Amino acid sequence: MIQRNGRAGSHSTSINIKSGFRITRDLTVIDHIGGTGKVDIYRCRSRSLKRVVACKILLPEKEHDKVVRDALLREGDILQRLRHPNVVGGYSVQAEPYPLVVLEYLEGQSLKNTFFEGNYGAFDIDDFINIVLQLSDALTYVHDQGLLHLDVKPTNVIYNDGQVKLIDFSLAREFTPEHPLRHKSGTVEYMAPEQAFRQDLSYATDVFGLGVVFYRLLTGGRFPYAVIEYLDDKEESLRQLDYKPTPISPSKLNPSVPVAIDPIALRAINPDINERFQTPAEFKATLLAVGCGRHYNHGEDT
Ligand SMILES: Nc1ncnc2c1ncn2[C@@H]1O[C@H](COP(=O)(O)OP(=O)(O)O)[C@@H](O)[C@H]1O
Ligand SMILES: [Mg+2]
Repeated sequence: MIQRNGRAGSHSTSINIKSGFRITRDLTVIDHIGGTGKVDIYRCRSRSLKRVVACKILLPEKEHDKVVRDALLREGDILQRLRHPNVVGGYSVQAEPYPLVVLEYLEGQSLKNTFFEGNYGAFDIDDFINIVLQLSDALTYVHDQGLLHLDVKPTNVIYNDGQVKLIDFSLAREFTPEHPLRHKSGTVEYMAPEQAFRQDLSYATDVFGLGVVFYRLLTGGRFPYAVIEYLDDKEESLRQLDYKPTPISPSKLNPSVPVAIDPIALRAINPDINERFQTPAEFKATLLAVGCGRHYNHGEDT
């Protein structure tokens, strides 16, 4: 059990391990950088790696929660398999003495902090396109590894000086088109209907999450579909989600969006899975075909 020096409260996700605390012989805490109620994320120094890393660690009060514990260990196993410039790197995972995952530490801020709670006006359409192209590459790679991410959203993308990296594989699932997958976990505002209503998922399910991110970037943060939030009642929120009416075209909300982008942005969030881009690569290719992404150079060629 971790010593809870300087603990702020039983359900707090604020700092609960002080700087200098040694999580393991290898990992010394520098500071607390995140956490959402099940895990905490600390910036740490790793002796063996001789570098600063991020450590995603189970909250002590979740110690006996097998579901959360197994999810963190599964995330660690997944991350160790992934190597891509637009995906966070995983170094190691351990179950004892407490479950934790050691990750590449990423400089920068989440898309949420950078754009929706940051200086949105400092960025333009090319910046937004570049982000989506990089995330398309990240998702194509993830899909090629036999996985769906299933939680693409602004807090799960880290932005640093034009480059983005996809993080948080806590909901990722093994998937190949030959084996149907149904899975309902996710974040209501970014969930495709097939995820919200527990129908068959596909690569297009991740396209939807990315499409909502794109729509929000283009429109200064608007959600494409009315999201009725029953704060503590996710089931009720999901029941109210009807994916109507058709979202307003981004160019009508932001005049600097070229009209050629409207049908692409809307196709990525089409509630009918068959009318959506089937893969992130198709989404990317369509953007490139209308001349978007001229300055794009951060991802791999696909
Ligand atoms: N590798 C990392 N480098 C830097 N910051 C990170 C890293 N991983 C997570 N974070 C920070 O912690 C937050 C939560 O991380 P995340 O993996 O999404 O956890 P959760 O599963 O609780 O949502 C992120 O939004 C980000 O601010
Ligand atoms: Mg997250």
